[in-house]
Amino acid sequence: MNDTRSQGSAHGQWSSRLTFVLAATGAAVGLGNIWKFPYIAGEHGGSVFVLVYILCVAVLGVPIMMAEVMLGRRGGRTPVNTLRMLAAEARASRVWQIIGWGGTLAGILILSYYSVIAGWTLAYLQYAVTGAFANFTGDGASALFAQSITGNPLTQVVCHTLFMVMTMVIVARGVNRGLEQAVVYLMPTLVALLLILVGYAVNTGHFMQALAFLFTPDFDKFSSASVLTAMGHAFFTLSLGMGTIMIYGAYVPKTASIAGTSVAIAAADTMVALIAGMAIFPIVFANGLDPAAGPRLIFETVPVAFGNMAGGTLFGALFFLLLLIAAWTSSISLLEPGVTLLIENFGMTRSRAVVCIGLVIWILGFGTAFSSNLWSHVTLFGLTIFQQIDYLTSNLMLPLGGLGIAVFAGWVLTRDTSRAELNVRNTAVYTAWRLFIRWIAPVTVSIVFLHAIGVV
Ligand code: TRP
Repeated sequence: MNDTRSQGSAHGQWSSRLTFVLAATGAAVGLGNIWKFPYIAGEHGGSVFVLVYILCVAVLGVPIMMAEVMLGRRGGRTPVNTLRMLAAEARASRVWQIIGWGGTLAGILILSYYSVIAGWTLAYLQYAVTGAFANFTGDGASALFAQSITGNPLTQVVCHTLFMVMTMVIVARGVNRGLEQAVVYLMPTLVALLLILVGYAVNTGHFMQALAFLFTPDFDKFSSASVLTAMGHAFFTLSLGMGTIMIYGAYVPKTASIAGTSVAIAAADTMVALIAGMAIFPIVFANGLDPAAGPRLIFETVPVAFGNMAGGTLFGALFFLLLLIAAWTSSISLLEPGVTLLIENFGMTRSRAVVCIGLVIWILGFGTAFSSNLWSHVTLFGLTIFQQIDYLTSNLMLPLGGLGIAVFAGWVLTRDTSRAELNVRNTAVYTAWRLFIRWIAPVTVSIVFLHAIGVV
């Protein structure tokens, strides 16, 4: 793609405010909502975790998302250069660009495992199409996963490779072409299918148990580690703290309202996660599965539901197809900051940049693909390679990135700059945002951190 570096963003612009909302929602809604949220909620005992997560989305997520869009739109380039430029503009240290470097690295690390899990989805799409789930019980579903995924490094590598290629092709074409259109139809269809799953789940008779698990506070299973995970997940699910929203913000037209958009994206994202939880936990309880089963949770529950439903082959195939697409619209957003960095700072063409970063991520992905088999003994502090990368990115890098962004937007940018760029008509909204971004977000993130490492 041609890279004209005239004004605005060198990489293009969304055709309208709606396309930005769709692209950002596409980046936000992904495996994090449907695969990750249910299983980490399960591991941390449900309800209290869910409440802390929702609180973090509201208190940290929305203001930080506004800050990221604002910085991106003002800077108009890859996060590293956006931060360098805005720091220069504010006569602040060049060191601030470190947030951009850290975020870009986080994106690379996250995509390395994200692509492997998306690969599992690809494999399950094939099983669904061939009717493999017919009359499945929980045991059958567990056996299929153990045999085809955990015990099968080759399948994982092949599917990971396919998914990386899919992601690289889109990013090489530039985000504008094709992708924004697709999201318009696909996201609503995904929600409809999730609702069909919920409909099935209501009839298992374990729906109330699932609701209680998700929403009735039970403080026993809850610890400071859970708070850190809930906070990290709020960043992960909204795609915050690494520059995804910043680079997408760079393509936003100057006229769009940042506040309304951010609230809408956060609300849509949270709804999808909660619906996924309400679909999955009734099936877990009805089939004697373990809520704390970990990453395999949806791969063991969803096939049971579709395997026992009229038209299940069709719906099952559709479900995994849409999950794959949701993962796809997220994975391209993880790649974009690194690619634009290579274009801007190393003078590469878009295609070459995509190949360079794609290759690195592809190789890193082997660490995750082999975490459940060949390299399952390679652990540090009892965590496999996959768990290490997940912990490092979600629990440390994203919240730290978010903290940096909040401090930068609240303390380094002048009041006039942020006021003009956010362009909120209502003074109270601006004042509230500034209070959250200067005080509430930085203090909350710091306390959760210090608490998790045992200082407070
Ligand atoms: N939010 C996506 C999900 O829930 C994943 C994702 C895309 C992401 N871009 C990101 C996570 C940037 C962290 C940072 O599946």
